[in-house]
Amino acid sequence: MINGSGLSVAVIGCGYWGSKHVRVLHSTDGVEQVVLVDAQEKRLEQLSRIYPAALRFSTLRAALPHIDAAVIATPPTSHVPVALEAIAAGKHVLVEKPLAINSAGARQLIDAADSARVTLMVGHTFEYNAAVWKLRELIHSQSLGEIYYLDSARLNLGLYQSDVNVILDLAPHDISIINHVLGETPRAVQAWASRHAHPRFEDVAYLRLFYDDERLSANVHVSWLDPCKVRRATAVGSEKMAVYDDLATEERIRVLDRGVRPPLPDDDLTQPPMSYRYGDITAPFVVPDEPLSVQDRHFVECIATHTAPNTDGACGLAVVEVLECAQLSLQLGRPVLLEELAAEARTRIPSGSLHVVGSRPWLRDHTTARWDSARHQERQPAQAAGASV
Ligand SMILES: NC(=O)c1ccc[n+]([C@@H]2O[C@H](COP(=O)([O-])OP(=O)(O)OC[C@H]3O[C@@H](n4cnc5c(N)ncnc54)[C@H](O)[C@@H]3O)[C@@H](O)[C@H]2O)c1
Repeated sequence: MINGSGLSVAVIGCGYWGSKHVRVLHSTDGVEQVVLVDAQEKRLEQLSRIYPAALRFSTLRAALPHIDAAVIATPPTSHVPVALEAIAAGKHVLVEKPLAINSAGARQLIDAADSARVTLMVGHTFEYNAAVWKLRELIHSQSLGEIYYLDSARLNLGLYQSDVNVILDLAPHDISIINHVLGETPRAVQAWASRHAHPRFEDVAYLRLFYDDERLSANVHVSWLDPCKVRRATAVGSEKMAVYDDLATEERIRVLDRGVRPPLPDDDLTQPPMSYRYGDITAPFVVPDEPLSVQDRHFVECIATHTAPNTDGACGLAVVEVLECAQLSLQLGRPVLLEELAAEARTRIPSGSLHVVGSRPWLRDHTTARWDSARHQERQPAQAAGASV
């Protein structure tokens, strides 16, 4: 350790989110010193008023001799070059979401960290959130029955980013939650998005994730241009439904014993087509621990014990691949299989430009779609009901 007993951890990028890391790291066991790094002097000055003893630098390079590890909370397009610089100097890194803006960048980080034998972790904060763990438990214990679909909405009159669209900004949260609670990654992704208030970047987007099990799907709605703040994930199962509302002060997870049943073959066809069940609503206890604290504590523990983080580079890559498929789907106007990603990335997309996509992609000619959409058609209501009850 640079400082003797504990780690010296730099926060690179002390803006909105980086300043939260600075606060949390100051009370994290195993951290001896928090070093502030930001290209903007005013950001450093603001934080220095709260933490007058903290070392501060305007570049990572200047901070390197003073640190053991770095939390990278700069804008997404800079994650890879900044993290590579830290890794090359033998520093452990926690990279904010998304790990990279394309899978080539994410792989570069994984390889570099492996070669340098340093910890690489991605800041999928919701995977350190007790409400998300509870949702995962409900799904894995089959308390909800067979999962029909997940639906996730992250809407607000939100902070427009300067380097990426709303998909790369907000959807990493939803995708990491969905990957985590299902325990699997999608097979294909389709995206629809539009630019309204911003000239370059999509500010409203919808994603659909398809799985090997064709009866399962997940929907993601992200928006910087919505009058209502919404942070909600819903899991709908054949037996029960669960709603995770991250804005709720209490009862962040609610389990609703509700469902519908299709008619049995001998049912009276003069009756309504579905019968409805309304049962209890319960709210399981969720440990009130700040997810960012849990995450940063885990980072420090992984460094100390030389163990792989729960959200390691592969976990970050899994999210980035879905994001990249979504971006590609916007360009091509069709669903994109994850397995076609590498080939498409090599032939069609200049490195680092995935966030710049064409306008109004749904107006494009879709006749060239190669994806076998018939296999992933919407289930007809009667088939869906018959298959799952
Ligand atoms: N995990 C979460 O829940 C969560 C929430 C919000 C944001 N984030 C992520 O955190 C990162 C930062 O987002 P933000 O909203 O705080 O942005 P921000 O614009 O508020 O802050 C970014 C800061 O980085 C600084 N910076 C940029 N390049 C730099 C460089 N090369 N060296 C040093 N400083 C540099 C800027 O001066 C700025 O102060 C993004 O990757 C974002 O996706 C994660």
